[in-house]
Amino acid sequence: MNFEIKTLSPEQAVQAAVDALIVLIPDDFSLKRGQRNALTELVHDTTTRKEVEAGVGKSLMLYRAPGFKASRLVLVRCGDATPAQVRSAVSAAMGHVRHASTRKVAILLSLLPDSNAAIQAAMMAAADATYTYTETKPSAKASAIKTLQLGVPAVASAKAAFAKAQAAVVGVTTAREWANRPGNHATPTMLAKAAVALGKKPGIKTEVLGPKEVEKLGMGSFMAVAQGSAEPLRFIIMRYNGGKKSDAPVVLVGKGITFDTGGISLKPGAGMDEMKFDMGGAASVLGTFAALAELKPSVNVVGLIPTCENMPDGKAIKPGDVVTSMSGQTIEILNTDAEGRLILCDALTYAARFKPACIVDIATLTGACVIALGSIRTGMYATTDALAQSLSDAGERSLDLCWRMPLDEAYADGLKSNFADMANVADRKAGSVTAAKFLQKFVGEHEWAHLDIAGSAWNSGGAKGATGRPVPLLLEFLVSRNSV
Ligand code: BES
Ligand code: MN
Ligand code: ZN
Repeated sequence: MNFEIKTLSPEQAVQAAVDALIVLIPDDFSLKRGQRNALTELVHDTTTRKEVEAGVGKSLMLYRAPGFKASRLVLVRCGDATPAQVRSAVSAAMGHVRHASTRKVAILLSLLPDSNAAIQAAMMAAADATYTYTETKPSAKASAIKTLQLGVPAVASAKAAFAKAQAAVVGVTTAREWANRPGNHATPTMLAKAAVALGKKPGIKTEVLGPKEVEKLGMGSFMAVAQGSAEPLRFIIMRYNGGKKSDAPVVLVGKGITFDTGGISLKPGAGMDEMKFDMGGAASVLGTFAALAELKPSVNVVGLIPTCENMPDGKAIKPGDVVTSMSGQTIEILNTDAEGRLILCDALTYAARFKPACIVDIATLTGACVIALGSIRTGMYATTDALAQSLSDAGERSLDLCWRMPLDEAYADGLKSNFADMANVADRKAGSVTAAKFLQKFVGEHEWAHLDIAGSAWNSGGAKGATGRPVPLLLEFLVSRNSV
């Protein structure tokens, strides 16, 4: 599906040559003299007569409304037209345009007090409603919509917002697609291939390391997780240089466990299929790079993806095994299911060689984070208030929320081991925090943040599928550094 942006006044919208016209109606709409036309009068009429009730997402669909060129007209209320309300309204309206003959849709934002603020929310909701997973289900009915037009009062002043929204859509779709693919269709080798393909885009470079190179680097912890699997590990290094040469890069590190059985500390069978999403962090890094290629902001970014499977096997790591990480620190693996931190720690050590401005890792790291925050907010940890604030703000602006969690040193007490510098797990209490404390032992003095996306990266149940989070947050965060 292609997005377009077009100057479209309410009057012009009446004549818009589209199959469906979605009109967003803010609560403060009023019919002003000199602005009367078929659309504004219809909106006035239907809202005052409560044919379109008050309430975000309340809608009315009209077929062949007299005077309108569009065969479907969808009137939808969006409250105060905050981005979150616009998202809900567009989601609701998209339900009315699922028809085989609906190929071209326009969303009219021109009645809103601030149409620019609504662009990304509207596009994300529309992209979400039309995304169809087909990779291993070619029979899935794809949306008929080919073109989605955003109607704004003046294109010139909306171009920047449109470009960023477009990049966010591409990024989220890329992340969703890769995270959705089952373990046998998204192996470490296949993820690396996807990264190499992204590396062909202007501005992006990809390098892929295999088992030999990783061994040379001394990534003993990462290798330990991979040793139980027949699939060879990959270490993916991506670079986007949009900033000045002298600008220190932001390093993104994404957990890429393409399937997490738990290893010898085997997970229970029920719902284990969802552990194909355990590369959601890696997918978000791929998605963010796809977005960077699209938007070309002036920042420098490095993406690191350690990727492998976590399998039980005759060669697999056993509880009690001690491994030596790239940092030189030894780790007693008390639970082979706490594997994410074992692959991330070596990538975090590797990150130092880029002399980063800051490091942000993204990982479906702990079930405990799902218990703490559910799927609404990503768990966010940061070593500085400034970084925490900037990630938190980016989340609010992009409607991709996170919440700061603590890093008090006392939380690291449980990681003490009699047989190594640390254990890979503490007791059950504050499981998301102790995982973060483990990672922190590998970041040295660098400014660092950790996003635990275990709850936000995918939905379970009937709507099972990847969300593409936290690509909107990451993109917003990176773009906000543009001017720094
Ligand atoms: N990938 C899982 C975390 C996870 C579990 C994400 C459920 C989403 C839903 C991770 O590798 C894991 O297994 N973590 C363990 C850690 C524990 C052994 C300390 C967990 O959370 O149970
Ligand atoms: Mn695990
Ligand atoms: Zn895992």
